[in-house]
Amino acid sequence: MTSTPGDRLEIVTAWDAATPYREWRPEILVPPTFRPAAAPRVFVVVNQKGGAGKTTTTVELAAAWAAAGYRVRVVDGDHQEAALSVWLVPQYPDGPRHSLRSVFFDECTLTEATYPTAFEGIDIVPSGLDLARVEYERPIGAEQALAAALAQEAEQAGGRSPYDVTLIDGAPSLGLVTVAALTAADEALVPIKVGGLDMKGMASLHRTIRSVQRKTNPKLRVGAVLLTAWDKSTFARQLAAQVAEDYPEAAVVPIRRSVRAAEAPLAEQPIRLYAPEAAPAGDYDQAAAVILPAKEAAA
Ligand SMILES: Nc1ncnc2c1ncn2[C@@H]1O[C@H](COP(=O)(O)OP(=O)(O)O)[C@@H](O)[C@H]1O
Ligand SMILES: [Mg+2]
Repeated sequence: MTSTPGDRLEIVTAWDAATPYREWRPEILVPPTFRPAAAPRVFVVVNQKGGAGKTTTTVELAAAWAAAGYRVRVVDGDHQEAALSVWLVPQYPDGPRHSLRSVFFDECTLTEATYPTAFEGIDIVPSGLDLARVEYERPIGAEQALAAALAQEAEQAGGRSPYDVTLIDGAPSLGLVTVAALTAADEALVPIKVGGLDMKGMASLHRTIRSVQRKTNPKLRVGAVLLTAWDKSTFARQLAAQVAEDYPEAAVVPIRRSVRAAEAPLAEQPIRLYAPEAAPAGDYDQAAAVILPAKEAAA
């Protein structure tokens, strides 16, 4: 995972609305108000719409940060698909298996529910269908359960998380697990599929983030919006402008469309390993470097 994948996009501080459409190209927007993250950091990849690119974003950012030398853990917050748990192939030891559900029900610690994956530098807290029990049994303190589990883990490790990055893959709903993830996170990363947009959905996500900020997690901020399966269109251009207005402090990153992105999960590999030359591999690599720069670069 050492080589840098894909061809690179230009990074700009403002989009030039005057550029004629035929000259319009994907560019990464890093506004002057943007602040890069520093490790240790907890991210939640959130959008209540299914098919927005959450799981793909989680895997590719995790792989990019692992390649940059960070110790990365991903958390599968989606009981409906558990796509992350399938894609990254958790390596279970013999004996009973824990999952994110066990953490919510106080059956184990977060560390005990964390397993290695097939990929060096990436560990996982897997999930299965039984995570849905959190939504209907509502265990005591569920909204705070992930934040508490992370804090407890850091305390046991001498005050600092054993992971530089924890990335929570969100569910296609704004249920209890999503609220718990937003409550535990420093930063939300929002993938929006170009072409799959629904404005109402964007507004309700915005409201949920605002109420989490007011009630359970004042430090939460939106670090980046990723425009997934990006293709040049008038619509993509309007969407990009809207997002930059809605989240003025966030980086806005186009992730270009490629069939390679859809093939990678079937090959059980991140895109950057399966098809390092594919545009999304490069775009996610750049996104990762903008959101949380590599250690040397961060100094
Ligand atoms: N850049 C991309 N180009 C083409 N297809 C993509 C891209 N990113 C994601 N996809 C595909 O879109 C679908 C939904 O992505 P996924 O990450 O599973 O979304 P979510 O987790 O939000 O439901 C998947 O089939 C995935 O392979
Ligand atoms: Mg998913």
